[in-house]
Amino acid sequence: MTERLVSLGRTDEDISLDTSLRPRGFAEYIGQKKVLAQLEIAVQAARERGEAMDHLLAYGPPGLGKTTLAHVVANELGVGIKVTAGPLVEKSGDLVALLTNLDERDVLFIDEMHRLHPAIEEILYPAMEDFKLDIIIGQGPSAKSVKIPVAPFTLIGATTRAGLLTSPLRARFGIVHRLDFYTEEDLTAVVLRSAAILGVAIDQSSAAALAKRSRGTPRIANRLLRRVRDYAQVKADGSITQGVATEALTLLEVDDMGFDEMDRSILQTVIEKFGGGPVGLSTVAAVVGEAPDTIEDLYEPYLIQIGFLDRTPRGRVATERAYRHFGLEPEDRQKRLF
Ligand code: ADE
Repeated sequence: MTERLVSLGRTDEDISLDTSLRPRGFAEYIGQKKVLAQLEIAVQAARERGEAMDHLLAYGPPGLGKTTLAHVVANELGVGIKVTAGPLVEKSGDLVALLTNLDERDVLFIDEMHRLHPAIEEILYPAMEDFKLDIIIGQGPSAKSVKIPVAPFTLIGATTRAGLLTSPLRARFGIVHRLDFYTEEDLTAVVLRSAAILGVAIDQSSAAALAKRSRGTPRIANRLLRRVRDYAQVKADGSITQGVATEALTLLEVDDMGFDEMDRSILQTVIEKFGGGPVGLSTVAAVVGEAPDTIEDLYEPYLIQIGFLDRTPRGRVATERAYRHFGLEPEDRQKRLF
């Protein structure tokens, strides 16, 4: 199995390097202008009142900076941040420990919020609403309910699947923002900024070439930059020029759209095996050997955003643009079925 260069999840290298490349404040944060404009106001207002900011839910495809945004908001609020993720909170005690250890106005960041266990989610309701925990101590007739106060705090929840959050949970977030894919222009700026931090020379057009292949996603832009930097160091003089960037991207098998094997496999399945669709998600998933959820959450949002794939009530449909990308004519649609 070849390493999936543009794999959409977070790798260990991302976690350590993203930390050094991560913007610390609003001023350094590139893109998501509308979201930032509103958050800057919420942060400033909370600071001026000396209160915890309202709870914030950030949703959208992976790699668009939900974790980064949580850290930026905490920095700008001038408070501490505690970080966890839905699947890591196994017992209610884990969440109680986190909540009772927060200082006044701190941020609690919960990633993959949709994977919180429903019983654990219920602990959050009174905590978010009244800064209280309702805890049952003991069992049977002697069981007692006690209320424990927690410091006023800001919950920042992140999810790739806002639709999977229960409505009582969603309703308790005062601020809800969807993060969108980045423009090529913004991603070029991200690449230039990261290159400056990493101390690697790169020209504008090479930065734009990497941006174009980053699926609208800063995490992928930074990952491509690191791989191309390696190539420049080993095969050239360390600077990333257009020639070096093109050679490196060819070697890395990153195509013009930044597609990886799985993107291509999904589109080719719809086009070649099912005449362009419509075909059901579970059928596509079985053919490409990937979980339906992974396809739906990680791969499809970008393919839909760039107009290569449509989700219809009858299934997935490949668009004319997708056909042309593979050198096919849209008139070929359905032909193979007959
Ligand atoms: N690195 C990753 N995401 C970024 C962003 N939104 N702004 C600046 N640098 C980044």
